[in-house]
Amino acid sequence: MIRALPLLLFAVSLAAAENPLARDAAAVAAGRATFLERCAVCHGQDAKGGQAANLTRARAVAGGTDQGLFRIIREGFPGTAMPPQTDLNDDGVWQLVSYLHSLARPGEQPPVEGDATAGAKLFRDRGCISCHIVDGQGGFWGPGLDSIASRKRTEEIRADILDPGAVVDEGYRRVAVRTKDGRRIEGLLKNEDTFSLQVLTRDGSYALLERPQIASVEKLEGSPMPKPAAFTSEELQNLLAFLDRQRDPYLSFERGFNNY
Ligand code: HEC
Ligand code: HEC
Repeated sequence: MIRALPLLLFAVSLAAAENPLARDAAAVAAGRATFLERCAVCHGQDAKGGQAANLTRARAVAGGTDQGLFRIIREGFPGTAMPPQTDLNDDGVWQLVSYLHSLARPGEQPPVEGDATAGAKLFRDRGCISCHIVDGQGGFWGPGLDSIASRKRTEEIRADILDPGAVVDEGYRRVAVRTKDGRRIEGLLKNEDTFSLQVLTRDGSYALLERPQIASVEKLEGSPMPKPAAFTSEELQNLLAFLDRQRDPYLSFERGFNNY
């Protein structure tokens, strides 16, 4: 019994290092209510700042550990007017952590409501899969989406789907290259340096074009992703629920990885 004790204590202190209420919709709602009551006066109604910091960008919220943020809230921010919250119990503080993380970190929102299975079917039926890999299946023309919900918030994902042309990411810009020997190569500009351009063509092959061979490079307008046919609001919700489940940890090389 005595020998088991240190192990037990270790387990307890580990459990407290992470927010037990992370991504919990009810905790986020409760945290928001507490925030409006106690914090908004300085940090603004939407936590985007007032007389004190914008917490959707603050380092202690966007980065940092769960426990670090817990402590700032419980103990106050040393050397500032921010008061400690000694009368809130642990759950009350964790609710605030859940709320602030849901604002500042893409992968920390509560699960998006909707039928993810129906969304997965739509992802196939609408041809999204022909350009996007999920779970090892799909096309290479667009970025892989296994970690989309760890990288982007639902509003951004919704905008990406409904208005693909609004922001076209680096590595997916369309170009048409004419070579001095009269060829025309159209595709996505994957890379360029002083000596060459690398263009991915729709058939999946990679053209490495040396600068001296090139007559002209024309940047083409718009996204390589077509604007999809209209969705009912239920369909869109299901699709967003499906994409929201794609939460693999984000590795910085990953977006372009499938193309190499
Ligand atoms: C009286 C004003 C005031 C109130 C009320 C207040 N804060 Fe603050 N808070 C500050 C100030 C001042 C700072 C120091 C940074 C700055 O100048 O904005 C700060 C810093 C922070 C930080 C660290 C930000 C960083 O830069 O990393 C967090 C997190 C935070 N507050 C959360 C909260 C939460 C949650 C509540 C409600 C429980 C709260 N604050 C209530 C004034 C306040
Ligand atoms: C013809 C290929 C193609 C099809 C079909 C297609 N996409 Fe895309 N998609 C792309 C490309 C290329 C990009 C990156 C360029 C850009 O940002 O506009 C992209 C970007 C995205 C992004 C943002 C990805 C990121 O990494 O930030 C999402 C989300 C997305 N598409 C979802 C969908 C969904 C859902 C469908 C089906 C309704 C779909 N796409 C159909 C090619 C396609």
